[in-house]
Amino acid sequence: MLNNINRFLKRVPTWVIYLLGTLPALWLTFQTLTGGIGVDPVRGIEWGLGLWAVRLLIATLCISPLRWAGLNLLRFRRQFGLVAFAYVALHFSAWLTIDMGLRWSQIIPDLYKRWYILIGMSALLLLIPLAATSNNWSIRKLGSLNWNRLHRLAYVATGLAMIHFLMVGKVYTWEVLIYASILVVQLGLRVVRNGPRSLVWA
Ligand code: HEM
Repeated sequence: MLNNINRFLKRVPTWVIYLLGTLPALWLTFQTLTGGIGVDPVRGIEWGLGLWAVRLLIATLCISPLRWAGLNLLRFRRQFGLVAFAYVALHFSAWLTIDMGLRWSQIIPDLYKRWYILIGMSALLLLIPLAATSNNWSIRKLGSLNWNRLHRLAYVATGLAMIHFLMVGKVYTWEVLIYASILVVQLGLRVVRNGPRSLVWA
């Protein structure tokens, strides 16, 4: 069964992930235009983009553990990571523009007044070098060992994104708890399989 799925996945072009990645943004746009996003559209857009950012970051980290279980999505990891980063960047841009209206006198104090914003910002900053080096040229330049070490920042960035998510949420739904559990379980699996150093530096 898994062999058949893997054989099928080998034939799927990687750009399909970019194509699928536009769907949540298109859906959010449609909901905004048709008034289905809720009573507070700014919050609705911010939440929708943030939620997809979390989902995609966690999905990207799950690709390695899924491979150990026999499902090979490794070819799509770069595309998943870049689409996740695009949603983080859109979420941040929504906050900066439609929420804060580019009012810098309010934006700067907001960064340290609200801790969850500072934590979200740290996650975003950590993701920038990862997105910038998600290409073959960077892998060649850095060498695969250094590149892999750099990309371990993804665990820290996703951990911070999760903390940001948990801090923002006023109510903890099953969805939030499921994402947090998946994050903890997949990190645990890495430690069991590769040792604790594999999460940091090895
Ligand atoms: C990896 C980076 C980030 C992820 C994954 C993320 C994810 C999320 C999620 C899922 C929510 C909605 C929570 C809910 O539904 O209850 C949210 C809310 C929010 N995030 Fe982020 N975020 C990130 C970075 C940032 C950054 C960089 C900023 C701004 C500098 C930011 C500002 C906000 C704000 C203002 C809210 C709404 C809070 C409210 O309800 O008042 N986030 N974020």
